[in-house]
This record gives sequence, C-alpha cells and structure tokens, in this order.
Amino acid sequence: MFFSKIVGTGGYLPEKILTNFDLEKMVDTSDAWIVERTGIRSRHIAAANETTSDLAEHAARRALDMAGLSPHDLDLIILATTTPDKLFPSTACLLQERLGVGGFPAFDVQAVCTGFLYALATADKFIQTGGAKNVLVVGAETFSRLVDWTDRNTCVLFGDGAGAVVLSASDEAGILSTHLHADGRYHEALAANGHVKQGQLNQGDGFTFMRGQEVFKFAVKALSQVVAEALEANQLTQNQIDWLVPHQANKRIIDGIAKKLQLPSERVVVTVDYHGNTSAASVPLALDVAVRDGRIQRGDTLLLEAMGGGFTWGSALLVY
Ligand code: ACO
Repeated sequence: MFFSKIVGTGGYLPEKILTNFDLEKMVDTSDAWIVERTGIRSRHIAAANETTSDLAEHAARRALDMAGLSPHDLDLIILATTTPDKLFPSTACLLQERLGVGGFPAFDVQAVCTGFLYALATADKFIQTGGAKNVLVVGAETFSRLVDWTDRNTCVLFGDGAGAVVLSASDEAGILSTHLHADGRYHEALAANGHVKQGQLNQGDGFTFMRGQEVFKFAVKALSQVVAEALEANQLTQNQIDWLVPHQANKRIIDGIAKKLQLPSERVVVTVDYHGNTSAASVPLALDVAVRDGRIQRGDTLLLEAMGGGFTWGSALLVY
C-alpha cells in the first residue's frame, strides 16, 4: 500500500473582480449586510469567453510546475465540477487534451461543493492500491453561470475559480484518511434545476435555489461530525491539527466549525472574503494560497472539509 502525497498545488482566479459595492448597484443589498452575514467582500467572475476547462488548465499547470512534473508523467485526471463546459465529454477529458496528453483515464465527479473531497478520496484509492502513481485532482467552477444575478439571496455568495493538486504515490505519510457522505433526501434544499427531458435539453431556469438557513444549520452539524470522524479514525486530537482548510462558503460556518473544534483562527485558512464560494474549487484554492504564502509547511497535519448540494459532505486528513 502506498500513501498519496500532495507534491504540487495550483490555483487560478479569473481577472474580473466583482465587489460588494458592485453588487449594491445590481440588487437591493449592501456591503455591510454581505460582510456581516457571509464574510465575503469580493469574488472573481469568469469572462464571457472563459470556460471551466480554461480555469482548470491554469490551475493544473501551476500544480504540475510546483510538483516538477510534466503532463506526460500523469496516469489519471479526476476533475470535480458542477459547471462542466459541455454535457459531455467530461471536462477532465477536455483538460487532458489541453495538457497535450492522452491514453490514461480522465473523468469528472459531481458532488457540488464537496466535489474536490470526492475527487481527492477517489484519487487516493487509486494510488493506495497501485492503480495510479501521479494523479491530477482538480476542482474548477464557473458557478457564476448558475446564479440569477437578480436574486440577492444567492448572487452575493458565489464566485469562479479553479484549484488543483498533484498526488504522487509515496512511502512517506500523505493522505491518512478520507470520509465521504451524502443524503439525497435534502436534494431540494440546494439545487439548480436544469435537466434533460424527452431528448431535449431543458435548462429549467438553470439557476441556483437555496434554503439558506437549512443549509447553514446542516453545514455546521455535518461538518463538525465529519471532522470528529476524521480525528477519531486517526486517533488524533484537535491540538494535533496544524491547519483546518475548510470549504469557503460562509465565514460564519467556518467560525462555527473552528469553535466546535476549539481551533484558534490563526490555524484556519480563510479565503472566502476575496474568493466567495467557488464550490468545488474552494478547498484546493484555499490550500494553494496557504502553501504559496508559506503558512502551510511540509510535515504539517491538515484537515480539509466541505459540504454542498445533495447534500454531500466529507473530509480528508493528511500530512502535507
Ligand atoms: N442583502 C440584503 N438582504 C438580504 C440579502 C442580501 N444579499 N439576502 C437576503 N436578504 C434578506 C432576506 O430577504 C431577509 O429579509 P426579510 O427578513 O425581510 O425576509 C433577511 O435578509 C434575512 O434573510 P435570511 O435568509 O434569514 O438571512 P440569514 O441570516 O440566514 O443569511 C445566508 C442568509 C447568508 C444565505 C445564510 O443563510 C447562509 O449563509 N446560509 C448558508 C448558505 C450557503 O453558504 N450556501 C452556499 C452553498 S452551500 C455550501 O457551500 C455549504
């Protein structure tokens, strides 16, 4: 059995920044309301001609550069997205072509904001069992395209971006455990209703709908449980966690988890203020920020967690 070690991280945010003050001109909201309820100050929005695979390629190349690997060294790509370029083929295949490689497996996973954790857990299983040696795991979203920009309940929350890691098989400790969950009974609490009907693509209104308070309460409960599950599985206490790298949906959800874990805010990576909620991209983007600014060091123990539509939720505990 091998460990999966993160050997490179990468992130990419589109150039255009949309601030809360810009939103004040679009819907009946205020910077003060958004900051108080969510902690978000600005988010990045993809240009009209920019696709999820564009963002993914930037993040992937940066992660490969840090790893000192070429796309030819890869033997698997797993990409998490809720906003694929096309219904098919998968965005992972489009990314593979852009990286100039082919032949090895590439596929998407869809677990909305938990997508990166699902992709990471899947990649880890391939590596542990000798099925792959170097895996590119990407979370990439153009979530702004699923947002009704006239609905103040949702449009203030989301942003676009991509994050990536390269995982390599190693004898040294890497990912220690992953924990995934879903409960489809909540599928109506957070959804975007595009669907294929009678052979025709019926986009519905295609926009994100959310019962905000229900999501909030479930997120704090489920994430606290999945974090406790990860600690217990590894017989660790919260004091042994160097960094919590949470899904960046809402500063109040992040603070709620940190409080339950009794983790001081200095050990929690927060990017939601300037990224907004980038869905599957949020955890790898936050990880990349804290690796590149030197906060996260080799040998640190990290706890990653996320929750999203489905509902889905999950965590990963790893030595960086
Ligand atoms: N600006 C001003 N007022 C607003 C806005 C806005 N952007 N949005 C809603 N309001 C109003 C509502 O209309 C309501 O007004 P009313 O009392 O006159 O009816 C009032 O603010 C309170 O609305 P609530 O929904 O009760 O506000 P709440 O404190 O619950 O905050 C929020 C809303 C921020 C969405 C919160 O519920 C939340 O964070 N939920 C979690 C959702 C989330 O993070 N989803 C992301 C996807 S899931 C995930 O990634 C985990």
